[in-house]
Amino acid sequence: MAAAKRTAAPALTTDRALAQRLSAFERALARAVRERAGGPGRLGAALRYAALSPGKRLRPLLVLTACEAVGGDWKRAIPAAVAIECVHAFSLVHDDLPAMDDDVYRRGRLTTHKKFGEALGVLAGDALLAFAFEELTRLAEGGLPPARVLEAVRVLSRAAGANELVGGQALDIAAEGRKPTARIVRDIHVRKTGALMGAALALGALAGDAGARTVLKLQTAGTQMGFAFQIHDDLLNAGSSLKNLGKRAGTDAARGKATWPAAVGEKRAAAEAQRIMKRVEAAISLTCERPRLLMQLIEATAHRQR
Ligand code: IPE
Ligand code: IPE
Ligand code: MG
Ligand code: MG
Repeated sequence: MAAAKRTAAPALTTDRALAQRLSAFERALARAVRERAGGPGRLGAALRYAALSPGKRLRPLLVLTACEAVGGDWKRAIPAAVAIECVHAFSLVHDDLPAMDDDVYRRGRLTTHKKFGEALGVLAGDALLAFAFEELTRLAEGGLPPARVLEAVRVLSRAAGANELVGGQALDIAAEGRKPTARIVRDIHVRKTGALMGAALALGALAGDAGARTVLKLQTAGTQMGFAFQIHDDLLNAGSSLKNLGKRAGTDAARGKATWPAAVGEKRAAAEAQRIMKRVEAAISLTCERPRLLMQLIEATAHRQR
């Protein structure tokens, strides 16, 4: 069954200020990818397909609203928002490959490797990861001090790398088909999903020129948010549909994935995700001087259906 083709994912919230940031981000992403991330042959087409397909854009919105939450100008954080979405898109393309989760649909469309072939799926992911760092350096063009730009590069490269996102993916694959324990699943989820959300909040704070303690507090809150987000993703995989999610449901159980509901049961998993999100909201409201939009985004994320 083919999933319905969508051109834009339904927005997480209807808030006007968030909608304005989202459309500015979409324009910046499309422009960056079309103008600067091409490549020979069909590579450019595969890369654009992967990066510009209709995602929720949660991580870039976290970057922009975290920047504002610490008193910065969100427009200056756009290069970091583009960078993080490109890392995320890379991770999704590779996550769907036959050697990983072997998925057919993503964001209501065929996965990149299904559309362009496996080799171009691998290569488009590689290119997106590299391109992310080129974009991140553009923070300097908005006047951010070089030391802050360097810190942003360090934060994103660590979050994407062998100890965090990629490491979590390796653990996720290794855990397939085994009885998951809560300890193992937490470790997987914090790495594969938590680290990039932690980086999103840290990058926003850095782009807003926040102090080191604030950056660290927001990064820690973002990592926890990512953990809860992945629990929620596990629950949706167990209980939703291709039509609603734009990706196949039921695949975690079919592959014997180490998920939080598999470790502790669905009821406890749902309660835990809500509890973590409440703690994240409390930490953010204590840390930030202008948390309104960021909090609104987090609240909408906690109640998402897709
Ligand atoms: C999906 O992330 C992958 C996970 C880490 C669970 P999203 O649910 O944010 O995916 P898109 O970007 O909206 O497609
Ligand atoms: C995705 O995790 C995590 C990364 C891509 C890093 P999943 O494999 O659980 O996410 P979906 O359900 O395919 O989006
Ligand atoms: Mg996976
Ligand atoms: Mg997957």
